[in-house]
Amino acid sequence: MVAKIAVIPGDGAGIEVTAQAVRVLTLIDGAHQLGLQFDSFDFGAERYLKTGVAMPAGQIEIFRNDYDAILFGAVGDPRVPGQVHAREILLGLRFGLDLYVNFRPCRLLDDRLSPLKGKGRKEIDFVVFRENTEGMYNGIGGVFKKGTADEVALAEEVNTRKGVERIIRAAFEWAKRNGKRRVALADKSNAIAAHELWLRTFKEVQIEYREIDARHYYVDALAMQLVIKPEDFDVIVTTNLFGDILTDLGAGLTGGLGVAPSANLNPTSTPLFEPVHGSAPDIAGKGIVNPVASLLTSALMLRELGHGKSADALEAAVQSAVADGKTTRDLGGTLSTVAATDEVIARLKLG
Ligand code: NAD
Ligand code: IPM
Ligand code: MN
Repeated sequence: MVAKIAVIPGDGAGIEVTAQAVRVLTLIDGAHQLGLQFDSFDFGAERYLKTGVAMPAGQIEIFRNDYDAILFGAVGDPRVPGQVHAREILLGLRFGLDLYVNFRPCRLLDDRLSPLKGKGRKEIDFVVFRENTEGMYNGIGGVFKKGTADEVALAEEVNTRKGVERIIRAAFEWAKRNGKRRVALADKSNAIAAHELWLRTFKEVQIEYREIDARHYYVDALAMQLVIKPEDFDVIVTTNLFGDILTDLGAGLTGGLGVAPSANLNPTSTPLFEPVHGSAPDIAGKGIVNPVASLLTSALMLRELGHGKSADALEAAVQSAVADGKTTRDLGGTLSTVAATDEVIARLKLG
C-alpha cells in the first residue's frame, strides 16, 4: 500500500514545522512500513510575489484525484496585501476539495500548561467541529464608494441546510463512535435570524442520537463557559467564523497555538492536515517555532490514513516530551525547533 502525500509548507513558521513533521513521519514510515510518499509543492508568498499566481489552475483536481492526503504548514506574509495568496491557497483547498469538517481537538498535554486555576488534563479535553465550506468565508459581498465617507463594505454569511446538517451529523457521529456523551451547538440565533437554521437542524438531528446529551448555547455564552467550566464540553459544533475564534481560544486553554492541530475532512475527498497556527512572522526564521502542533497534526493524518498504531506512538512521544519540559520557549522550555523534535524522536516507541 502506498499513500501519496502532498506537502505544502507555505510560509514562515509553516516551512519550519513542516520540515520537522516530514522528518518524523519518514522515520515512522521506515519503521512501520506505511508506504508514505511525499511530494512537495511551493505554494506560498514567495511564488505568488514572483509569478502573481497563488496556485496553478487544475491543481485542486490533481490533489483530489492523485493524492491521499495534504500536509499543510501555514500561509501568510506581511508583504502580501490582504493575504490574497493565503485565501486563494488555503480557502481554495478547503472549498475546492469540499472539506466541510474542520476537526480541531483541544486537549491539554500537561497540567503545567493549563492557564486555568484548578483545571488540568481531565477537565480540558474537547473537540470542535468547525463548519469549513460556508459561513462568512465565501467572499460574497463587496465594497461600494471605497475611500469615501459613504463607504459600504458587505460580507454575506452563507448557511445552507445541506451544509449545516452535514457538519452537525459529523459531530454527533464522531461523538457516538468515540464514546463522548455531550455535543454542544454554538450559534447566535438570538441576534442573527439565519442561525435559526442551525438550531432547528440541531434539534432534528439530535433525536437520532438519544444517548448523547445535546445542548444549545449562544456562542458568547459558550465562550465564557469554556473558560469557567471546560469540563462541561466534549464536542462543540459551530459555524466557520465562530469555529475559527473558539479554536484559538481552545489553543489558549491547551498551551497556545504551538500545540493545536487540525484536520480538514470529507470522507469522499482528499483530506488536508494543518496546525491551527499561522506563519508566525514575529518568530519565524529564528529556529524557535514549536513543532508540536504540526507533529500532532501529522498524528491526525496517520490516524485518518488508517495507521492508528503509528498515530498513537507519535502522540505518546509528543506528550512525554512536553511532560518532561523538553520544549520550545512558548511552553517554557529552552529548545530549538529541531532539538524539540529530537526529543520527540527519542521518545518514539516504534517497536
Ligand atoms: P499566528 O498563528 O501566526 O501567530 C499568533 C501568535 O502565536 C504569534 O505570537 C506567534 O509567534 C505564536 N505562534 C504561532 N505558531 C507558533 C508556534 N508553532 N510556536 C510558537 N509560537 C507560535 O497568527 P497571526 O500572527 O495572527 O497571523 C500571522 C499570519 O499567518 C497572517 O498572515 C495570518 O493570516 C496567517 N495565518 C495562517 C493560518 C494558516 O495558514 N492556517 C492560520 C492563522 C493565521
Ligand atoms: C485558521 C486561519 C484561517 C481561517 C485564515 C488564515 C484564513 O485563521 O485556519 O484558523 O480563518 O480559517
Ligand atoms: Mn484561525
